[in-house]
Amino acid sequence: MGHSADAVRITDDVYWVGAIDRDLRDFHGYSTERGTTYNAFLIRADNITLVDTVRAPFFDEMMARIASVVDPSRIDFIVSNHSELDHTGCLPRTVACVRPEKIFASANGLKALAAHFHTDLGATAVADGETVSLGNRTLAFYETRMLHWPDSMFCHLPEEELLFSQDGFGMHLASDERFADEIDPAVLHEETAKYYANILLPFSPMVKMALEKTAGLRIGAILPDHGPLWRKNPERVIEWYGAWAAQKPAAKALIVYDTMWYSTEAMAGAVADGLRAEGVEAVLCRASACHRSNIATEYLECGALVVGTPTLNACMFPALADVLSYLKGLKRKNLTGAVFGSYGWNGEGVAQAKEALAAMKIPLVAEPVSVQYVPDEPALERCRALGHEVARKLKESL
Ligand code: FEO
Repeated sequence: MGHSADAVRITDDVYWVGAIDRDLRDFHGYSTERGTTYNAFLIRADNITLVDTVRAPFFDEMMARIASVVDPSRIDFIVSNHSELDHTGCLPRTVACVRPEKIFASANGLKALAAHFHTDLGATAVADGETVSLGNRTLAFYETRMLHWPDSMFCHLPEEELLFSQDGFGMHLASDERFADEIDPAVLHEETAKYYANILLPFSPMVKMALEKTAGLRIGAILPDHGPLWRKNPERVIEWYGAWAAQKPAAKALIVYDTMWYSTEAMAGAVADGLRAEGVEAVLCRASACHRSNIATEYLECGALVVGTPTLNACMFPALADVLSYLKGLKRKNLTGAVFGSYGWNGEGVAQAKEALAAMKIPLVAEPVSVQYVPDEPALERCRALGHEVARKLKESL
């Protein structure tokens, strides 16, 4: 695979033993242009403990990394913080190989593991706040239900001040570097935001609860199950999460549109001009040219959603129906909305986009601007006015 299969030391007794998936470009519908990692961790305490495993095809890579530190048969405990298959795909095989004394998961984790593998792995349920002695170390478990599955939990190693946060604080990034402080801060922010937007945004109230639950813990480093490890200044990513969970509007409007003969695109440009004239940033995304998971990243840190659609066969343009269906599921709060579009004869597309925003509970600042065929200068002026109106409403909400 062109890389070392050695473990990476985090502290004297804690090692990264995960796997790097450089080829991944689609993670259940989320575009992963930079690949990902599946992180697993080995705690070399009196009771040697493996925290999470990796996706099934990466079993050998994980086992080679474990073997670079200890004989895998010496593992006493396995912790499953989250049942999704990117972390449990090789759990049954690992259990068969290692024969651990105990497997720990949340009560919901036991149910989820049974529903995935239809075999009794012999796991033990741990309760919120419960601790397990590893001899010279302690592992404390914290339920983080719906962050982002019912089974999800964090665990904390107080003696080393390490928080194992499964998907929380993670990102899809197959870097050669294992630590966040070795990576371009702009990439870190973009990929962490993309992960939050696509995976955690609908569960923002639970993110707030998890941040409150972990606020009293000593956290020297955060070790998520994807991407680089936050060994320096973990407060920074905790602050990002606090801001995203609050979903406060930002002085940025996201204009998602599509176009057939460039009429709706010309209208989108005029709406953007109106927004910018008011000092509000306008980000234009053509739905069929941008992956929905990248549009979601822009959606996380904005204050308005403006939708522009042509009408195709009496319907909203299909690429917009796709994106709006996806964004609806993310349950973003505190947004201002507007709709515009060009049509040939009846203009049902704009009406359907208006209904979609109502279903997303995003209030419109004005009635949609709808133009037959090609917008003339007065029509473009109406679009600029719509941009001004969105900007004014957005600024009132800041
Ligand atoms: Fe990385 Fe929800 O699994």
